Amino acid sequence: MVTDTLLTSKPDSIANFRIETEDLPEFEDMPFEDIEELPLEHPGAKDPVYRERRDYIAGLAKKFRETGVITDVDYTEEEQSVWRFVSAELEELHQQKASPFYLKAKKNLGISNDRIPQLTEMNKKLGETTGFRLAPIEGLVDTRAFLSWLSWRTMLSTQYIRHHSRPGYTPEPDIVHEAMGHIPMFTNQAFADYSQMVGHAARLATDEQIDQLGRLYWFTIEFGLVEAEGDIKAYGAGLLSSFKEMKHAFSDEVERREFNLEEVINHDFDYSHMQPILYVVPTYDFLKEETRRYIETMM
Ligand SMILES: [Fe+2]
Repeated sequence: MVTDTLLTSKPDSIANFRIETEDLPEFEDMPFEDIEELPLEHPGAKDPVYRERRDYIAGLAKKFRETGVITDVDYTEEEQSVWRFVSAELEELHQQKASPFYLKAKKNLGISNDRIPQLTEMNKKLGETTGFRLAPIEGLVDTRAFLSWLSWRTMLSTQYIRHHSRPGYTPEPDIVHEAMGHIPMFTNQAFADYSQMVGHAARLATDEQIDQLGRLYWFTIEFGLVEAEGDIKAYGAGLLSSFKEMKHAFSDEVERREFNLEEVINHDFDYSHMQPILYVVPTYDFLKEETRRYIETMM
């Protein structure tokens, strides 16, 4: 049973970070208050039809918190065409520059270029591989709340899709970002463990440490690069779900540095610009172990 202290409770051991499935909290009492509405600069902000549709799909996330059951979305042809556009645009870049694990995982999850995948089907496969779970959410929540849910092997995920007028762009997470960016990597055991540890850390963190964890999240889960096949490949969701970001990450404008945790957690960045520096991890296990060391200093 979830209590009010869910997000402020402290895990007491990092060594034993794998919580038993029966001890994972239910979703009915997710204590979220400040979920961000559609941002004003959103391309759909002035389109009443889009707003109504987004509100309807956001309503399904609210319903999820009452029932604990994810509802499939009956996506329209216009929404499907946005997915197909982004998929087609990214296809070649993915084949060349996405991490081999990601490519395999995407296939195993049944994510195709033809149609928007449903959270229910991906959630089932995640459960079978790493025990991660998807929880629909209607917008952005604050860093501490978002990261803390990773501690319970839960990834908060939007279900609506960006506006059709600019299929290559979204100022907020959407189903393209979640399914094409984030979800496949959560079937990797080391990556899933790492994410869960970041969640544990968020429950322990001071406000200053939350900022550090936000940077760690940004330069790994969102914009991370990994050594693979004698080359550098992308595993971060912000890269994998954006043609522009992906192209930029492998251009001469970016310095691709060896990952150093101390440096990353202190590396300030600007959300509104493309990153001039990105970090390359040798393996996901390395990332997990470096993070474990860091979190142990917090306990
Ligand atoms: Fe993201």
